[in-house]
Amino acid sequence: MADEGTHGYSRRLTEYGDREFARFVRQSFASSQGFAPKSLGKPIIGIVNTYSELNNCHRLLPDLVVAVKRGVWAAGGLPLEFPVISLGEIFLHPTSMWLRNLMSMDVEAMLRAQPLDAVVLLGGCDKTLPALLMGAASADLPAIVVAAGPMLPGEFEGERVGACSDCRRFWGAYRRGERERSELLELEAQLAPTAGTCGVMGTASTMACLTEALGMMLPGGAAIPAVYAERLRQGEWSGERAVALAEERLRPSQIMTEQAFDNALRVLLALGGSTNAIIHLTAIAGRLGIRLSLDRLNELSACTPVLVAVKPSGENYMVDFHHAGALDVLLPELRDDLHLAAPTVAGSTLGERLERRRRRAPDAQVIYPRSRPFQEAGALLALRGNLAPEGAILKRSAASPHLLQHSGRAVVFRSLADLAQRVDDPALEVRADDVLVLQNAGPRGGPGMPEAGYLPIPKQLTGVKDMLRLSDARMSGTAFGTVVLHITPEAALGGPLALVRDGDRIELDAANARLSLAVNERELARRREEWRPPSTPPRGYERLYHEQVQGADLGADFAFLRHEALSDGAAAG
Ligand code: FES
Repeated sequence: MADEGTHGYSRRLTEYGDREFARFVRQSFASSQGFAPKSLGKPIIGIVNTYSELNNCHRLLPDLVVAVKRGVWAAGGLPLEFPVISLGEIFLHPTSMWLRNLMSMDVEAMLRAQPLDAVVLLGGCDKTLPALLMGAASADLPAIVVAAGPMLPGEFEGERVGACSDCRRFWGAYRRGERERSELLELEAQLAPTAGTCGVMGTASTMACLTEALGMMLPGGAAIPAVYAERLRQGEWSGERAVALAEERLRPSQIMTEQAFDNALRVLLALGGSTNAIIHLTAIAGRLGIRLSLDRLNELSACTPVLVAVKPSGENYMVDFHHAGALDVLLPELRDDLHLAAPTVAGSTLGERLERRRRRAPDAQVIYPRSRPFQEAGALLALRGNLAPEGAILKRSAASPHLLQHSGRAVVFRSLADLAQRVDDPALEVRADDVLVLQNAGPRGGPGMPEAGYLPIPKQLTGVKDMLRLSDARMSGTAFGTVVLHITPEAALGGPLALVRDGDRIELDAANARLSLAVNERELARRREEWRPPSTPPRGYERLYHEQVQGADLGADFAFLRHEALSDGAAAG
């Protein structure tokens, strides 16, 4: 599609076969909004508003939109707000991940179709920032991200609590019989006490930090709590900066380079961030022709310690991270390992940002110095082996040390429904040293790769707090335990995971990054013969998703949405 004009309302004209008529009629309809002719001649800055009453995390986005508009007006632009799909993590079936790619298509299509000179992307809940970045990367229109910001923690029995690391902690205690239902009801009101995204280093906060590390957000924007006035000022500055981006024509593909993704992976590791971020970064990079490899993740992981002690890794909350200086303090600690020439939406390089932003020393309580890290290197580990030929992920920093080298008997659940039905069945034959295996919960099998990898410990194993658990699913960034995720190829594609049976021996060898199934090739070949693929849904988005979704190693993006440079398997990075 041709871009008929270079500026404002003359861009992306409606096709009538008469461009002058299209321009004339557009101006006429635009003036019906009540703007004076002078306003209509300004650069048009789209504001993507992902507010929805089914997305609690985005409750304050309308206020943020007002602030962004102030900034756009002040800088001489015309701000025009429009909606796209919003994904509220807790309000979607089967899982928000199933809809991430759809949201990214919505974003890309609307950025391509409308007369915009630049865009401000407002999001925050887990899948929204990835979808916004994927869409913006594909449309490659000048763009800047403003995050909703994290919630503040609540208080329960004299201690601070927050979504959703504490949801899981208390739920685990309830399942073990250590808590009453009435106590959970009291806790309910305190886990998410304000607007904003989950207040721990879950996927939403991790992705906000990585968006800043990628250079797509103004410095300091990732961790400001949703309810702080500072969040509104960040919005205003971003609106102002968007007008400059429109003039400079600085595009996402010039910012999100291979070096920028390397920086983001470093920051992910230093944060002890969510495993989901690996999938999202891979998908965003894939839109730009950059291939992120698990080998590179392991290389960086081996030499990047965890410096941030925010739940689920530490005891702090995102508000503490913000007050400790957030990325302004963390990035200088990583300075020697970062690509400092990487450009950012601020108009300066990452290196210039580090020079300019006021420096404060790490407090060694929330952000630790590189010389004395919170945890040693290796927070995230990509595994391979005959059970995961294309890879799997273990969040080593959240695992029990005694299970990192472990061999046990498989107890297999064939699907999520099977898991729900049998895990607490007293007749289930299971021991504490067994390995819980969940099949058919990957991108195609789930569908949508739900956050089911954190399998519940069977109730009959009273007092057991962790077991080795394996699946092709994901895990919430707020969860913890010895949980191997993203096993690829997934079971629904006939990967080796589909061939595991009760009683098989499985070995996790974290020291050598291996995940193995001790079953001989002949027996595996026999089981492979018996395997049948799931049926294709008859129509609609279900069918599109089933046919197009790729493995976790490719970001679980749709094949036809990846950059053409990667469509034939060629890797640019
Ligand atoms: Fe929205 Fe956690 S539910 S960020």
